[in-house]
Amino acid sequence: MRFQSRASVGAFVAASAVAANTTSLAGICTLSNVKSVLPSNGTLLGINLIPSASTAAVIYNATVGGGMSSSSSSETYDYCNVTLTYIHPGKTDTKIIVKYAFPEPADFKNRFYVAGGGGYSLNTDSTGGLPYGAAAGATSAGYDALDGVSYDDVVLLGNGSINWDATYMFAYQALGEMTQIGKYVTKGLYGLSTSSKLYTYYEGCSDGGREGMSQVQRYGDEYDGAITGAPAFRMAQQQVNHVFSAEVEKVLNYFPPPCELAKIVNATIEACDPLDGRTDGVISRTDLCMLDFDLSSIIGEEYYCAASSTSSGGPGGSSSSSYEPVQSGKVSKEGVAVAKAIYGGLHNSEGQRAYLSWQVGSELGDASTEWDNSTDAWELSITSTGGEWVTKFVELLDLDNLSTLDGVTYDTLVSWMETGFVRFLDSLQTTVPDLTTFQSSGGKLLHYHGESDPSIPSASSVHYWQSVRSIMYPNASSGESLKALRDWYQFYLIPGAAHCGTNTLQPGPYPEDNMEIMIDWVENGVTPTRLNATVSSGDYEGETQMLCQWPYRMLWRSNTTFDCVYDEKSIETWTYDFPAFKVPVY
Ligand SMILES: *[C@@H]1O[C@H](CO)[C@@H](O)[C@H](O)[C@H]1NC(C)=O
Ligand SMILES: *[C@@H]1O[C@H](CO)[C@@H](O)[C@H](O)[C@H]1NC(C)=O
Ligand SMILES: *[C@@H]1O[C@H](CO)[C@@H](O)[C@H](O)[C@H]1NC(C)=O
Ligand SMILES: *[C@@H]1O[C@H](CO)[C@@H](O)[C@H](O)[C@H]1NC(C)=O
Ligand SMILES: *[C@@H]1O[C@H](CO)[C@@H](O)[C@H](O)[C@H]1NC(C)=O
Ligand SMILES: *[C@@H]1O[C@H](CO)[C@@H](O)[C@H](O)[C@H]1NC(C)=O
Ligand SMILES: *[C@@H]1O[C@H](CO)[C@@H](O)[C@H](O)[C@H]1NC(C)=O
Ligand SMILES: *[C@@H]1O[C@H](CO)[C@@H](O)[C@H](O)[C@H]1NC(C)=O
Ligand SMILES: *[C@@H]1O[C@H](CO)[C@@H](O)[C@H](O)[C@H]1NC(C)=O
Ligand SMILES: *[C@@H]1O[C@H](CO)[C@@H](O)[C@H](O)[C@H]1NC(C)=O
Repeated sequence: MRFQSRASVGAFVAASAVAANTTSLAGICTLSNVKSVLPSNGTLLGINLIPSASTAAVIYNATVGGGMSSSSSSETYDYCNVTLTYIHPGKTDTKIIVKYAFPEPADFKNRFYVAGGGGYSLNTDSTGGLPYGAAAGATSAGYDALDGVSYDDVVLLGNGSINWDATYMFAYQALGEMTQIGKYVTKGLYGLSTSSKLYTYYEGCSDGGREGMSQVQRYGDEYDGAITGAPAFRMAQQQVNHVFSAEVEKVLNYFPPPCELAKIVNATIEACDPLDGRTDGVISRTDLCMLDFDLSSIIGEEYYCAASSTSSGGPGGSSSSSYEPVQSGKVSKEGVAVAKAIYGGLHNSEGQRAYLSWQVGSELGDASTEWDNSTDAWELSITSTGGEWVTKFVELLDLDNLSTLDGVTYDTLVSWMETGFVRFLDSLQTTVPDLTTFQSSGGKLLHYHGESDPSIPSASSVHYWQSVRSIMYPNASSGESLKALRDWYQFYLIPGAAHCGTNTLQPGPYPEDNMEIMIDWVENGVTPTRLNATVSSGDYEGETQMLCQWPYRMLWRSNTTFDCVYDEKSIETWTYDFPAFKVPVY
């Protein structure tokens, strides 16, 4: 017989026992085969695998999770589920478990895929690469992250005692090592030489965006393409900023009904929507809104919100409920003053800027007050994101929330930022602006951010892009550095979008094909110049918008066409210094 079926090739190779069968899933997915391709100790510096703790088994008809693929979720895949265990030499007490999903050899497209997590959680699902014919993995990070343990649950060993192992693992190391081991084993399983190219991709948003930036900054030569959305980097400033809105209300001694703030946001959207040239419910140019619109013009507009009560059942029978009475009235000058101060950003008592803020027209979620039945009044509410950062990461007390802002001033907020900034400068901060390793090994970075993100200000991403530009091209002319960056680092603001998704208040576009675009860029040399995004609701539902690459800005010429314009005055509104800190803030 001249042509052998796949199965008979498998039988032949298994019988000969000289090399793994790389043509069938069952053939590659045996424990002995997996063990035979593990890196021996010393191969990957700082990583000692414990071969006896490995597992391997074929999983049939699995649905896919963990990635950001928009591919139909009904599709199922067979894959090889492998778990490996390693230690850091000299630290035998901490075992790190990594798990991988290896696709059918026939589906394998010479790719490795890494998905990001969110909040304080790393991604726990290894199957996100399957739609792309990619092997992929996830890691326990040494603190049971695969079982759902969140880093903020383990950041303190006790009051005043930081768990630095968990901190560095969460910050960047766990993903980097998972990728190094995964790539090595992938090459072995599919019969590629260790020096051959395995296209390696990263994709994530929010902390997943930060994790992606950490990989590009720390393991630049491991990745060919990284897609990073709304990165939660510059974490010391970012997390304390979640306390800023409540502090503004305390300082101004005005606790607006949530409906009043919602009205201010809605009225801002309505007023600023047309400034970009098209009235479509979207502020595509928050910079023009900042330059040309005065929030004070909203004073006196009427607002109304019906009474509401929500209750959420918690585990073990616990439940919490919140009640809001009917809210109606006119937007007050105090309410507008609160909104203006929040959008203006944190300054210290000498008027020096400490941080940037959300773009005008973004929701003011952090400013939400809480109805108190006993006093019949709206009371201060400190967000749990900001509060927990202050108690655990700044004060180093194992408390889940910050119960009061008594005695806290804007200067206190700045000093909280400063403490975290210095403490976590080389771990969580994740703002190393020199990406030379990534760039010079051919890496491509696609960075995006919802322009009306109410959680992580979109200007935070702009600031990092500017830092990379000025650090990597200090002597280049403006045109030269722009041109150089476009070849490997592209940044896009998504008009109207919220945090890692569309915005219920602004029916704007959202990108859905980022991996396809990235694969084309990396593997076929097709450098994007615009970002393909689709409007998913409203009058223009279904419209494709090829979004402008920063620093070019969208300007509608008609209801159907827009230009990408270079507008110096607008760019200035996105450009910040932070003189409240003496150390440079990248
Ligand atoms: C690598 O080192 C670990 C412990 O440091 C040990 O358990 C393991 O057996 C070693 N692996 C090999 C292949 O020798
Ligand atoms: C997987 O799904 C296919 C198609 O539905 C089915 O024929 C097959 O038996 C399933 N395999 C297993 C192991 O469940
Ligand atoms: C993959 O293998 C590990 C270790 O045996 C196991 O805990 C896990 O449940 C497996 N995954 C699936 C989807 O079965
Ligand atoms: C703001 O607009 C949204 C829809 O765009 C609406 O659901 C909400 O009720 C409005 N809020 C106020 C206070 O007007
Ligand atoms: C607050 O008062 C309202 C109206 O009297 C009531 O429906 C609600 O259950 C109360 N909520 C709480 C948390 O006590
Ligand atoms: C940690 O400090 C907090 C605040 O002082 C205190 O309430 C808590 O009991 C302390 N925890 C332990 C384990 O000592
Ligand atoms: C904040 O934490 C303290 C101490 O752990 C607790 O007593 C209090 O109920 C918490 N408050 C909220 C709003 O969760
Ligand atoms: C920028 O110019 C300075 C002074 O001429 C030179 O020392 C430095 O190497 C240049 N840096 C780069 C990145 O070209
Ligand atoms: C943009 O994406 C849409 C939806 O995926 C696709 O149909 C269209 O061809 C893409 N357009 C371009 C120019 O890439
Ligand atoms: C553009 O859209 C707006 C809002 O839908 C509409 O009022 C206007 O007539 C349109 N302009 C043109 C030229 O069609």
